[in-house]
Amino acid sequence: MPTVAVESTTLQHLQTAYDGESNARVRYRLFAVQADLDGYRDVASLFRAAARAEQIHAENHARVIRSLGADPTCHIVPINVHNTATNLRDAIKGEEYERDVMYPEFIAEAKKSRQNAAARTFSYALDAEAEHARLYRAALDNLTAGRSEVTYYICLVCGFTTSDAEIARCTICNNPREKFEVVS
Ligand SMILES: [Fe+2]
Ligand SMILES: [Fe+2]
Repeated sequence: MPTVAVESTTLQHLQTAYDGESNARVRYRLFAVQADLDGYRDVASLFRAAARAEQIHAENHARVIRSLGADPTCHIVPINVHNTATNLRDAIKGEEYERDVMYPEFIAEAKKSRQNAAARTFSYALDAEAEHARLYRAALDNLTAGRSEVTYYICLVCGFTTSDAEIARCTICNNPREKFEVVS
């Protein structure tokens, strides 16, 4: 009898998260272009910063997927780009779903299965998405055309995203300033 490899639930969750982060990255890059067109250059900066963070999450998930002997796979779906206010609402919805539903479920399962590396990459993403949801909400509540670009600092380890130029250590993973990349 040939053996049939059965994917673990943790591995399936990693693939789902990898797919979600990969799509979010593409979506935010397009939303950034639209924000520039709409005259919200500060919001365009935020979308570019968040896109970079989602890329870091995808790379972190991919590393764990490979360590489990599988290849990361994703399917980039067509993106509906609307005006910036609607795009922000769409982004908030996605971040809140990941923060409140998807990642908590994935973390609980990974811990139960003693998949520590998976639990860690999920939990880095959850904490960073919570911050994205907050930043997007603030941007939507305070949407004003004509502002300048904003400089963001992205933690290359966990994707934490902040505009705090004075940040010395990552709020989420405690890595030092040297681990941050500047995006504007
Ligand atoms: Fe995010
Ligand atoms: Fe971090």
